[in-house]
Amino acid sequence: MNKILTAIIILLLLVIGGGFYKFMIQGSTTESTDGRLAIQLNAGERDMVLGEMRAFLDTVQKIVKGVSEDDMKLVADSARKVGMSAQGDVPGSLVGKLPMKFKKLGFDTHTKFDQIALDASDMGDKDNMLIQLSVLMQNCVGCHAAYRIELEM
Ligand code: HEC
Repeated sequence: MNKILTAIIILLLLVIGGGFYKFMIQGSTTESTDGRLAIQLNAGERDMVLGEMRAFLDTVQKIVKGVSEDDMKLVADSARKVGMSAQGDVPGSLVGKLPMKFKKLGFDTHTKFDQIALDASDMGDKDNMLIQLSVLMQNCVGCHAAYRIELEM
């Protein structure tokens, strides 16, 4: 009897552990034709992630414009918009489909935009802004090299 209980408990722990691994670490991914990991999302989730991406691109343009025109307010205001505060409304179901590394990179990118916003309003050092932007954009490059999005079946 005890052995059966132990076996059931171990089995349940494995199921929970597997669920945890799937939800937290691996996300909903498959191999894809170009060697990147394909994150499987539904249409609404995909639209949401890609909308965030276009906001990133828009912000990068505004930061470069701000630096080139010596307009640190433009740099600070646009960077702040895609900082951590922009991450609030990501639904839990989407969070579960994103691999841990992806979430970390996304989180780090929002944090770095916040840092740019802070430094733009504090110091307003243009060279420093460009250095920070160049480091931040390694996240864009790195993530795009590793992941793509596919519509789940
Ligand atoms: C955490 C991962 C990640 C980070 C960081 C990231 N992206 Fe993306 N981005 C993606 C993925 C995945 C796609 C979809 C690519 C695909 O399916 O081929 C994408 C797509 C895009 C698109 C296309 C949007 C569309 O409407 O099709 C743009 C533009 C973009 N990213 C800009 C950026 C910029 C600029 C940055 C950095 C400031 C950035 N991304 C950072 C993962 C990321």
